Amino acid sequence: MMPIGPLMIEHRLIERMVSLLNEELHAIEKNNEVHLELIDSAVDFFRTYADRCHHGKEEDILFRDLAEKKLSSEHKRIMDELIQEHVFGRETVGKLFSAKERYGNGDKDALKEIIGFLKELAEFYPAHIEKEDKHFFMPCMEYFSKGERDAMLQECWEFDRKLIHEKYRLVVERFEGRK
Ligand SMILES: [Fe+2]
Ligand SMILES: [Fe+2]
Repeated sequence: MMPIGPLMIEHRLIERMVSLLNEELHAIEKNNEVHLELIDSAVDFFRTYADRCHHGKEEDILFRDLAEKKLSSEHKRIMDELIQEHVFGRETVGKLFSAKERYGNGDKDALKEIIGFLKELAEFYPAHIEKEDKHFFMPCMEYFSKGERDAMLQECWEFDRKLIHEKYRLVVERFEGRK
């Protein structure tokens, strides 16, 4: 398997979460209320899975190693765009979280913001994923030897292996800090 294998598999799960967001948008329009548990889970999904686990491997392994290569100007431009898009995704999820908090605390006007951020995420992720899947990942593999690709794939597995431990260590530390 190439190192983009796990990344492309992860894209498929992100797309399934985006479908849930689109269904939720229809449900909000119909019922004029939000399924808060879904939004909570979606925020955790985008933070932990899409951003830390998935963008983490893209930025800390693939993009890091690509930055050492002599990239074509087109590939360099796309990589810079992808990094900026990760920032946008991260910020939008943060805004969705804060709108959801305000809505949960009784600010019914925050519903409009929740709808807006859900729409932004549901539009953003498929376009971002398509750019990577169709215009970036495969041509980028050409910059690497078989040995380099294998080493990156191993590092991807190692990255994933550590992640669950990191997540729950941070949970404990967050609450320890409040004592
Ligand atoms: Fe990405
Ligand atoms: Fe991606």
